[in-house]
Amino acid sequence: MQIRFVFCLVFLLYSQTSHAQSEGGLSLSSVSPFPVGFAVDPVLLKSDRVFRELFIKHGDGLTATNSMKPSRIIREKGRYHFEEADALIDFAVKNNKRVHGHTLVWFNESAPRWLKEIRDSATLENNLREYIRVVGEHFRGKVKSWDVVNEVFDDLAGDVRIADYNEKGAALLNLGGVLGKDYAARMFQYAHQADPEALLFYNDYGQETNPGKLNHIIRMVKDFKARGIPIHGLGIQMHINIDTPESGIEKVIASFAATGLQVHISELDVSMNTGKTKQFRPGAAQFLQQKQKYRFVVETYRRLVPASQQYGITTWGVGDKDSWIPQFCNCSDFPLLFDQEYQPKPALEGYFEGVGTK
Ligand code: G3I
Repeated sequence: MQIRFVFCLVFLLYSQTSHAQSEGGLSLSSVSPFPVGFAVDPVLLKSDRVFRELFIKHGDGLTATNSMKPSRIIREKGRYHFEEADALIDFAVKNNKRVHGHTLVWFNESAPRWLKEIRDSATLENNLREYIRVVGEHFRGKVKSWDVVNEVFDDLAGDVRIADYNEKGAALLNLGGVLGKDYAARMFQYAHQADPEALLFYNDYGQETNPGKLNHIIRMVKDFKARGIPIHGLGIQMHINIDTPESGIEKVIASFAATGLQVHISELDVSMNTGKTKQFRPGAAQFLQQKQKYRFVVETYRRLVPASQQYGITTWGVGDKDSWIPQFCNCSDFPLLFDQEYQPKPALEGYFEGVGTK
């Protein structure tokens, strides 16, 4: 009888805690020892009250999903557009949220066409230096940190990218090919000149499954340190799926922590649709695997990164409705902490468990 009573009491307490954590009371930011971030789109922030409230409640900071990229700020040569990013930063300041700038230099097909067309190294270098100066100075004092260069290394052996086109035939900004393989170092120097107070990050994806890329990044950091190139942090994008091996996740987090730099899990999401099929609908098993993966990432980050180097964990969006993945893979997927209606998912509970609130 007594045992039954104790069991009932424990069950009641467990279910209440679980309910409070995932749906009502607790916020991630109030229980997390590291800053909790979200990638934020200003259109949703304005138009969707639930999105806005969830971000305000759970987030310590934001990264602009697209608003601070060259593709938005300088689509046409010489014409800077800061309105969208400024509005986002005003919102962050009013709500006491940290702003992480993303990204000053990126090779991706979304780079402005006029930049991609420059084939002369001095001209491209001068344009990028000027862009970094104008943008760095514009946001000085408002942006705490920058992803200075995004995704320098390729997905093959992990060497510096030198491609003019991607596999779909879309034109790229061939930074390595036009500027030479050491271009990233100079971009960090320009960023430091533009805003000497900003923390400067190198950001990339796939290190957990591509050891060649991971090695190149570590080598670059050692080289930067030896030459006195200013670098303060490393971003692990961590676009993973429910099958991504835990050993790879542990390895990249441990290797980055060992550099002594700030470590930012900068774009976390956990895809469930590993087959990339159009009609995919997750079942209980996938929801559980996703929850476990979120818990593992958060717990591993806390365990392996010294507190003084924990720059935070940012998820790439708030709910499945605003994830980039379905558009990118042309398939259905559900990679984030909240669902299409911004209701909490088991993944959120996994995050709370990783933080250690259970
Ligand atoms: O806004 C236009 C819309 O008007 C148009 O109808 C539509 C048609 O395709 O495109 C819309 O713009 C798209 C934009 O996302 C907003 O949805 C762009 O085509 C598309 O290229 C853009 O994709 C972004 C991508 O970076 C490229 O900039 C994703 O939102 C964004 O989540 C993604 O983020 C990247 C990080 O910056 C770096 N790491 C990887 C991560 C995921 O790819």
